[in-house]
Amino acid sequence: MESRIKSGFFSSSAVFILAAAGSAVGLGNIWKFPYMAGVNGGGAFVLFYLLCIALIGIPVMLAEIYIGHKGRQGPIDSFHEVAKSEGQEKSKFAWQGYVFTLTSILILSFYGVVGGWSIYYTYEAIMGTFVQITPDESGAIFGGLLANPLKQILFQVLFMLLVVYVITKGVNKGIEKTITVSMPVFFVLLLILSIYAMVVGAPKEAFSFMFSPDFSKLNAHSMAEALGHAFFTLSLGLGAMLVYGAYMPKKEKNITKVVLIIALVDTVVALFAGLMIFSLVFANGGEAGGGPGLLFITLPTIFGSIYGGYIISIVWFALIAVAAWSSGISMLEVTVSHLENKGISRKKTSWGLGVFITLLGFGSVASFAGWETKFLLGKNFFDTLDFLTSSISLPIGGLIICIVVGWTVSDKLFKEYLSTISDTTFKIMRFVIKFIAPVLIIFLLGYLISKV
Ligand code: PHE
Repeated sequence: MESRIKSGFFSSSAVFILAAAGSAVGLGNIWKFPYMAGVNGGGAFVLFYLLCIALIGIPVMLAEIYIGHKGRQGPIDSFHEVAKSEGQEKSKFAWQGYVFTLTSILILSFYGVVGGWSIYYTYEAIMGTFVQITPDESGAIFGGLLANPLKQILFQVLFMLLVVYVITKGVNKGIEKTITVSMPVFFVLLLILSIYAMVVGAPKEAFSFMFSPDFSKLNAHSMAEALGHAFFTLSLGLGAMLVYGAYMPKKEKNITKVVLIIALVDTVVALFAGLMIFSLVFANGGEAGGGPGLLFITLPTIFGSIYGGYIISIVWFALIAVAAWSSGISMLEVTVSHLENKGISRKKTSWGLGVFITLLGFGSVASFAGWETKFLLGKNFFDTLDFLTSSISLPIGGLIICIVVGWTVSDKLFKEYLSTISDTTFKIMRFVIKFIAPVLIIFLLGYLISKV
C-alpha cells in the first residue's frame, strides 16, 4: 500500500513534471517577468533572477516536493507525516499548511481576474480588434476593460469555471487529462511564436537587452523583486508543489532531475517570452520599460501592424490563457486536496471554494476599476493582496519549508530520498536549504519591512 491519500496519483512522473511545469509556467512568466525585466533595466536583473532560481528556487522546490512526496497527504497533514517519519508525534509546523491554503485562495482571487483578461484579449483578437490599431486605441481598450467591472467579472467567471471544472474531475480525469494536452500544445505554439518574433523582430537588440548586464541598474529594490518573483514563478511557498508532490508516483527516484527539469522549463519559457516580446518591441519602436501594460497595450499595437499579426495575436493570448489556466488549477487544488483527504466531497469543495474565490476577486476587479480605498500601507485592495501574498507569504512559506526540511528532517532520510546525487552535491544542497536560502529569504523580508 503506497499511502492513504484519497485524491489518487498521477499515472507517471512525466505527468507530474508536466503538471508542475504547468503550475510554474503562467502569467508570472509571460506577463510579469518581461515587464519586470523591462522596468528594472534588463540584463543585470535577469542575471540576478537566474541566480535566485538556481540558488534558492531549486533547493526550496526540492524541499517542498519532499514534504508532499514523503508526507503523502494534503498540505497540512503532510507536515505531520514528515514529522512522524522522524519519530515525532506531530509537526510543530503544520500551521504553515493553513497559511498555504489561505495564500492560494487569496492569490487565485486576483489571478483569476487577470486570467479573465487573457480570455477577453483572445476574444478581441478573434474579432480582429487589434488589426491596424494605434497605441492610443490600444490603451483605450485596456483602459476600457479595467473601467468596466462587469466585463472583467464576466471573463473572470469564465476563467474560474474552467479551473473549477477541471478540479471537480479529480487528479487523473481532471488535472492529468487537461495538462497532458494543454502543456504540449503550449510549448509547440510558444516555440513557433518565438521563432516568428525573432524573424520579424529585432532579436539582436532583444538579446543584448536581456543578457548584457549593467550592474549599476541593480539595486536593493530590484534584487528583492527578483527574489520574490523567483518564488512566484516557480509556484513555491504556497503548497502547490507540495500537493503535486503528494500525487507523484513513489517509484520516482531521481527527484533532483525532476526538479531541475521543472525549473529549467519555467526559466526557458520566461526567457523565450521576454525575447519574443522585446524582439517585437524594439523592432517597432515600443518602450521596454512600459510596465504592466507591456503585454496588454504595447503588444496588441505591434500585432496590429506586423505580417500575420491577426493569427499571431489570437495564438498569443490563447497561449497566455492556457498557461494561466494550469496555474490556477494548481492553486485551487491546494485547499481541495486538504478537504478531500479529510473526507469532504471534491465536487462540493471545488464549487464552494470556486464561488467564494470568485467573489473575493471582485475586490480586485473593483481596484482595477478605480476603487481607491486604502487597506495596508496606502495600497488599494489588489495591491494589498498582492503584497501580502507574493512578497510576504510566499517567502515565509519558503522559509518554513527550509526550516522543516533543513532542520527537522534527518540527514539520513533526506540522503536516502536524494539517492541519485553524489555526496558532495548532497552536502551543497543540504547547506543551501539549511543556511543560504533561509538567510537570503530573511534578508528579503527584512528589506521589505524596512521599506514600509
Ligand atoms: N507560477 C505561476 C506563474 O508564474 C503562479 C503561481 C504561483 C501558480 C503560485 C501556483 C502557485 O504565473
